[in-house]
Amino acid sequence: MQFEKNLIARKRRVEDLLSELLRSQASSPVLQEAMTYAVMNGGKRLRPVLAYASAQAVDADYSLADIAACAVELVHTYSLIHDDLPAMDDDSLRRGVATCHIKFDEATAILAGDALQSYAFEILSSSNQLKVSNEIRLQMLQLLAKAIGATGMVAGQSLDLQISSKSINDEALTTLHSLKTGALIAASVQLGALSTGFTDQSCLDQLSVYAKAIGHAFQVQDDILDVESDTETLGKQQGKDQQLGKVTYPVLLGLDGARDKAKSLCEEAISALSDFGEDAQLLREIALYIVQRKH
Ligand code: IPE
Ligand code: IPE
Ligand code: MG
Ligand code: MG
Ligand code: MG
Repeated sequence: MQFEKNLIARKRRVEDLLSELLRSQASSPVLQEAMTYAVMNGGKRLRPVLAYASAQAVDADYSLADIAACAVELVHTYSLIHDDLPAMDDDSLRRGVATCHIKFDEATAILAGDALQSYAFEILSSSNQLKVSNEIRLQMLQLLAKAIGATGMVAGQSLDLQISSKSINDEALTTLHSLKTGALIAASVQLGALSTGFTDQSCLDQLSVYAKAIGHAFQVQDDILDVESDTETLGKQQGKDQQLGKVTYPVLLGLDGARDKAKSLCEEAISALSDFGEDAQLLREIALYIVQRKH
């Protein structure tokens, strides 16, 4: 109960901030509308919540992570817009409503994604609400850029489109998952802690072990839900992975095997936080939530 309250409070906080940040952002009305549509249409806001929880875990006021929280959600939304395009997963439903390219058109959706990505870097590099030294700010920019580029999320998306069931094993699928989904989730945790000015490398490394495990668990659960949930609950089309011939953990290990995998990753994440005290409780609860969630 308290956990849900915490989630809702942080979700509301980042949504208010995003809505404010997106007001009059674009110099093109249609671009403005498409960016706002894609960002403000719901979603679990897991990555911002992680940034907040990570700031809290290092014993700081979580509001210090406001800009990091907004930046990772802007990047995430861009990635969803592009993931749904006909050239990629070709989806028409996202967060319970029409995908951006269906609501607008493909060109507008591509541009809205581009602009959201760029805006994330703009706020991280220049917002005075982010109260860290320039050195840490630069570290944050580098970390996000690396996490989502050609050795991170975008590489994962590329592998996801190429790999077929004949050519994949557990190890290759783990690499794919950790790039396409894990890298941004891991960055969200790191950025949350760095936003508070925290630089203890050994604690950041422990947070990184936690984040990699939950990032992986998150995609395993996403794949499980694609099999066993329904379109209304998911807010996106159920069964799409099978339709597209995607290689997923349920394909590789069966549903029970995939569930065991998610559970052991969740345990790995929680044990990575053993040196942290009560302040990291929200991070521990998020790890459990990730593998128990229904959408
Ligand atoms: C969906 O992410 C895409 C993946 C990386 C699996 P989420 O499940 O976090 O999507 P929203 O933000 O809640 O809609
Ligand atoms: C999307 O993964 C990952 C990124 C957007 C980077 P999926 O293709 O599995 O996400 P869903 O299932 O469409 O939300
Ligand atoms: Mg995809
Ligand atoms: Mg998809
Ligand atoms: Mg999926």
